[in-house]
Amino acid sequence: MTDTLRIRRPDDWHLHLRDGDMLRAVLPETARHFARAIIMPNLVPPVITGADAGAYRDRILAALPVGSKFQPLMTLYLTEETNPDDVAAAYASGLIAAVKLYPAGATTNSASGVANFDKVRPVLERMADIGLPLCVHGEVTDSDIDIFDREAVFIDRVLDPIRRATPGLRVVMEHITTSQAVDYITAHDTGLGATITTHHLVINRNHILVGGIHPHYYCLPVAKRETHRLALVSAATSGDARFFLGTDSAPHMDDAKETACGCAGCFTATNTMSILAEVFEREDALDQLEGFASLHGPGFYRLDANDSYLTLTRGAAVTYPAKITTPNGPVTVFDPGFDLHWIVAP
Ligand code: DOR
Ligand code: ZN
Repeated sequence: MTDTLRIRRPDDWHLHLRDGDMLRAVLPETARHFARAIIMPNLVPPVITGADAGAYRDRILAALPVGSKFQPLMTLYLTEETNPDDVAAAYASGLIAAVKLYPAGATTNSASGVANFDKVRPVLERMADIGLPLCVHGEVTDSDIDIFDREAVFIDRVLDPIRRATPGLRVVMEHITTSQAVDYITAHDTGLGATITTHHLVINRNHILVGGIHPHYYCLPVAKRETHRLALVSAATSGDARFFLGTDSAPHMDDAKETACGCAGCFTATNTMSILAEVFEREDALDQLEGFASLHGPGFYRLDANDSYLTLTRGAAVTYPAKITTPNGPVTVFDPGFDLHWIVAP
């Protein structure tokens, strides 16, 4: 059995770092293993302009452990007032790598997101012209649509019409959770990719709801039934370059998760590479891990793969801390519910 795996250093194509104390607490967890990450802009207030993104990037760089070469790839939060010229200038200067579309009200801090998609058409057209990717939170928010159907309905009602109306727009469907999303991506081969999280490769909706409510498994889009998880595992391990890792590691303080109205988000930055190795090994697909975690994402974003490497070794079961501490309280680390045997070599 293989017990050493050397891969190009991975990147995280969807990450929440927050700000202030939380940023300082969670950033080392990602920077330890990952070379780059696409940084989500859903702060309060959101990162809307190029100036906002520049200031946020400076705060991230200032919070990095000494000597770290981690590179934050910034995004702008798309609003109905976003100025196409500001977006184009931020991209031309190398500051941003993508723009993020949150349907208004879809998830944490998405109140400033888009309700009327016609209003963002000029920005999307400019992005198509300059080749700047749009990262999409793909869920409708209509109250009459069942939460487990929101991603599939979004594809038909929003994503496909946007792509047809804006030829050439490069789109990443973020944190896909359904077989419908996998099928949509595999049926459209130009300018379309998808990120898959670590936790959606591991949990289905039973993990959230059976035997009591498990708030640390609650995220958005919510995990679906097992057939969908299996479709995600098969896409991630297939070698298809349209699928790549975006952890959506989303820290919330435990007291904001373990409450009557708990926040959505799983914190996976700490143990993601160990979990992924276990998942890929179970599928007899360890040889596909490098593509998923380290090669397909740079390919989509038209960047070089990292020139450094990461080595994983297999041994006795490894444990990670159940929580990381922040000055404001603990943040629970995602528990995959099975033993982990792969550890990242120091
Ligand atoms: O579970 C989630 N948490 N999904 C999101 O889309 C946002 C994220 C967060 O910011 O906490
Ligand atoms: Zn996210």
